[in-house]
Amino acid sequence: MTLPRAHELPVCNIPAHPEPDTISPAQQQDYIDKIKALLKAENAALVAHYYTDASLQALAEETGGMVADSLEMARFGKEHPATTLIVAGVKFMGETAKILSPDKRVLMPTLEATCSLDVSCPIEQFSDFCDQHPEREVVVYANTSAAVKARADWVVTSSIALKVAEHMAAKGQKIIWAPDKYLGDYVQSQSGVDMLPWQGSCIVHEQFKADALEKLKAETDDVAVLVHPESPANVIALADVVGSTTQLIHAARDLPQKNVIVATDRGIFYKMKQAAAGKNLIEAPNAGEGATCRSCAHCPWMAMNNVENLYQSLKTGANEIHIDPDIGKQAMRPLQRMLDFSKQGQ
Ligand code: 13P
Ligand code: SF4
Repeated sequence: MTLPRAHELPVCNIPAHPEPDTISPAQQQDYIDKIKALLKAENAALVAHYYTDASLQALAEETGGMVADSLEMARFGKEHPATTLIVAGVKFMGETAKILSPDKRVLMPTLEATCSLDVSCPIEQFSDFCDQHPEREVVVYANTSAAVKARADWVVTSSIALKVAEHMAAKGQKIIWAPDKYLGDYVQSQSGVDMLPWQGSCIVHEQFKADALEKLKAETDDVAVLVHPESPANVIALADVVGSTTQLIHAARDLPQKNVIVATDRGIFYKMKQAAAGKNLIEAPNAGEGATCRSCAHCPWMAMNNVENLYQSLKTGANEIHIDPDIGKQAMRPLQRMLDFSKQGQ
């Protein structure tokens, strides 16, 4: 079997962004107060991704939860003593939390929030492909289903993908890489690892435009460009720093430049502004000539999380994540390997 081409992968239906919140500030505050009380009553911790609404990130911070990239979310959920985790993000993040903590109850504000990378990599097609290349180690991105993780030798997130690829290249190992073709290209070009890449993509990051970014960079004085590695190679080529969401926040804080152009989901600005106070943070262009801009620097699935559905989930126990125990056990191995590997590198 040959590698499925992009057009042979499942078509991803991109939902419209939810309408702006129609609830009043008083109602919003009421939900926040109730959520705080429920988190205590249910011995629960809120874990939120940087791309979720600022109100949820603030709530996680205020209640002793966590706002993080996908690697830190996984680690925090596993190590936290809470008996319930409520994960604001997309489904693979809730599933990862459940796989790593099978004895905890894991809830999500919505189970509709998927990810175009996860959708692009159905287990049957992927497993057949792996079976054709038994000589290759299977490395999958965290943005995949539990079943795909269970088929893998390694799970990585953007913060350690390159280090794992370098480690494997140094050992002379050949790999299958899935699902993000852009992250795969980047990791391959930097590490030299022998890679067969799957052809998925992130509908948010693939929309950043290199020509417009180059122009903006040239027009802006004292500027640094930060790029998430799910972006196309010609956008990455313009970056001063390429990294995971946490790594980009640290770069915005630590780089000397006053102006910082950021090519990732705009949800990151909530924490980036805190970390890099005084810096001028600019969204990288995703519109202009040739642009389709259907996601416009904001993930429509991340945007499905809000205080209302978070409250409902905590109150009723709705949207609990369940993983088949056998799949969970198998997926735990490459996930634990990821956590162990990242710890060694610290
Ligand atoms: P991070 O691991 O950098 O948070 O990335 C997760 C993700 O989905 C980015 O689109
Ligand atoms: Fe998936 Fe992209 Fe959304 Fe991240 S931003 S969850 S990779 S669709």
